[in-house]
Amino acid sequence: MLKIKIIISLLLIVVMASAFIYNEPPHKLTYLKLFIPRGWPKPTTDIFATNPLTEEGFVLGRKLFYDGRLSKDGNFPCSGCHQQFAAFSTYGHDFSHGFNNNLTKRNAPGLFNLAWQKEMHWDGGVNHLEVQPLAPLTNLNEMAETLPNVLQKLKKDTAYVSLFKAAFKDGVINSQHMLKALAQFTGSIQSYNSRYDKVKRGEDNFTISEKLGYKIFLDKCNTCHKEPLFTDNSFRNNGLIVNSKLPDSGRMSITGNLTDLYKFKVPSLRNCSITIPYMHDGRMFSLSKVIDHYRKGIDTTQATLDTLLKKRLIISEQERIDLLSFLYTLRDEDLLKDTRFAPPNYIQPAAKQEH
Ligand code: HEC
Ligand code: HEC
Repeated sequence: MLKIKIIISLLLIVVMASAFIYNEPPHKLTYLKLFIPRGWPKPTTDIFATNPLTEEGFVLGRKLFYDGRLSKDGNFPCSGCHQQFAAFSTYGHDFSHGFNNNLTKRNAPGLFNLAWQKEMHWDGGVNHLEVQPLAPLTNLNEMAETLPNVLQKLKKDTAYVSLFKAAFKDGVINSQHMLKALAQFTGSIQSYNSRYDKVKRGEDNFTISEKLGYKIFLDKCNTCHKEPLFTDNSFRNNGLIVNSKLPDSGRMSITGNLTDLYKFKVPSLRNCSITIPYMHDGRMFSLSKVIDHYRKGIDTTQATLDTLLKKRLIISEQERIDLLSFLYTLRDEDLLKDTRFAPPNYIQPAAKQEH
């Protein structure tokens, strides 16, 4: 009897000890916080409320963002249309190329400060950063894939198995986790270090021309392209002549209201010198052309034209030059070159490493 008791006790000790030894280490996450620059309004959305931002989630999101396997033929990662050097817009293309050489129907906007944007896409048709990728992933003009296929491809890659494990407690490779990780990456892309920002913080000065341009901007543009985000996040009609080849009713396609016909999201002007071309259909290839539109191109016959633009804007030749100088100060080199947002295997140029 005693022998049996001893054996049972020994067995228990062995079981408990092995459970102790093989217990998985606690799941460690490095929590990050979205930076809110001084003087900025609070973000309009709490994008990380149900998706805590962590270094592990960000790293996984970055790999997904740069991975062609999210598209049907492997050629169209998110980064194909959202290029870092162009503030995550598609540089130099009115429409972006997607699957089967199809073209998108709208110009790809830059991606930054998304926590301050309640409604995304030119018509505001997407209202949550976590569901946004479903549009490009499944759109036949863009990535043309299905979620089950993408997940199957990811599951085959041991690198993803460990990245999902690191980023999420249960480590499951599913669409929810994939979308959350992508949102952690895109939601972290911020722009607040342009020369304009440095002048505002007292670290730099405007030239005379930039200063004059800033005054003109405040007078003529700031109601809609409101600083510091350079958008008031509203939908407005700025009087573009309707594109007869590709008619786009804009905000109305979402709300169904005739009063929203030809209204589009006011885009941020941050980094605008590098997000060429401009407008929802990328019809203008220079900032000069944009200013000319406000001076003499506005179609004043449209019923939904914004009241601020009914009379077009009076801007002299000299004022146009100054306004351009100011717009160039909105370029944020730190964002364009930040290796945190570069492809995961990016190697810093040697010259930079010496410092
Ligand atoms: C083939 C080109 C293409 C690909 C690939 C692509 N996008 Fe886009 N993206 C666009 C276009 C075009 C828009 C504007 C759509 C609209 O307004 O209807 C857009 C809009 C967005 C927006 C909203 C930005 C805003 O200010 O409204 C986000 C966020 C975004 N894309 C993220 C992604 C992510 C994440 C992926 C990968 C899963 C991705 N995109 C893949 C072309 C692309
Ligand atoms: C009444 C509001 C309003 C005013 C005032 C206004 N804009 Fe705009 N702006 C818009 C809207 C709306 C769009 C997008 C239109 C579209 O694509 O259909 C836009 C687009 C732009 C774009 C294109 C950005 C991009 O990424 O495609 C630039 C650049 C621009 N505006 C500069 C200016 C400047 C400079 C001024 C002042 C001279 C100005 N805007 C005044 C509403 C306005």
